[in-house]
Amino acid sequence: MAEDHQIALQAIDLSKRFGGLVAVSHVSLDLRIGEIHAVIGPNGAGKSTLINLLSGDLLPTDGQIRLDGLDLTHASPEKRALRGVGRSYQKTTIFPRFTARENVRLAVQSHMPSPLNCWRSPDRDPQTNQATLSALARAGLSARADVMAMHLSHGEQRQLEAAMVLATRPRVMLLDEPLAGMGHAEARSMIQLIGSLKRDCALLVVEHDMDAVFELADRLTVMADGRIIACGLPADVRSDAAVRAAYLGEDEAAA
Ligand SMILES: Nc1ncnc2c1ncn2[C@@H]1O[C@H](COP(=O)(O)OP(=O)(O)O)[C@@H](O)[C@H]1O
Ligand SMILES: [Mg+2]
Repeated sequence: MAEDHQIALQAIDLSKRFGGLVAVSHVSLDLRIGEIHAVIGPNGAGKSTLINLLSGDLLPTDGQIRLDGLDLTHASPEKRALRGVGRSYQKTTIFPRFTARENVRLAVQSHMPSPLNCWRSPDRDPQTNQATLSALARAGLSARADVMAMHLSHGEQRQLEAAMVLATRPRVMLLDEPLAGMGHAEARSMIQLIGSLKRDCALLVVEHDMDAVFELADRLTVMADGRIIACGLPADVRSDAAVRAAYLGEDEAAA
């Protein structure tokens, strides 16, 4: 696995305290272009908090975040997004009464740096239209572009969220439980989509579905109580005694 893959996003010794609770404790990790870095761990391990720190939705108590070497530790989510950090949320964040196409178009427009864009008719801007169509196509939603989001299936709504992140052409994608609540067929197409994203992007994927994790991950980090308890190639992490005891062991014992 390519040590030579270029590091896009770097977390260095990140910590986040909520009052007396340390949700994320001294976490360091690299996200590399061309790689899917999966983060697993039991509920409350700090996975979503870590994503919130990387996206800028939360500011860390300590530590640093760098994108392509640039310090973004205290940058707003908007600034990070403009620099190429895209994220999806654990709960769906689409506009239910807008069509799939309109939702994606809004995502495209929100990432256009020039405020002058509001003087243009968005429907007529070919660049916006092109970015919208290509994101819908990559997410497998071309045929559903004109359906109101509220009428899409749960899986299609998650695909739409992925399209909305994709539309911003991110360098880094942070996906929090992308398979949550999906049926088997929907999960399969989402797994395929996620696998195709790493071509030109660095991904961090938090996911509970272990089969999907081991199918997708190039690197695997295991968190428990805010800390990293193991990190490395998936096969190595899987055989780590501490991980089996703390986490994977429970799953396998139950299986
Ligand atoms: N905004 C918040 N305020 C206070 N505590 C929080 C907040 N967000 C998360 N926590 C706590 O931080 C810990 C880690 O939560 P979270 O990052 O959501 O875990 P995970 O995503 O791994 O399930 C939990 O104990 C949770 O209750
Ligand atoms: Mg979570």
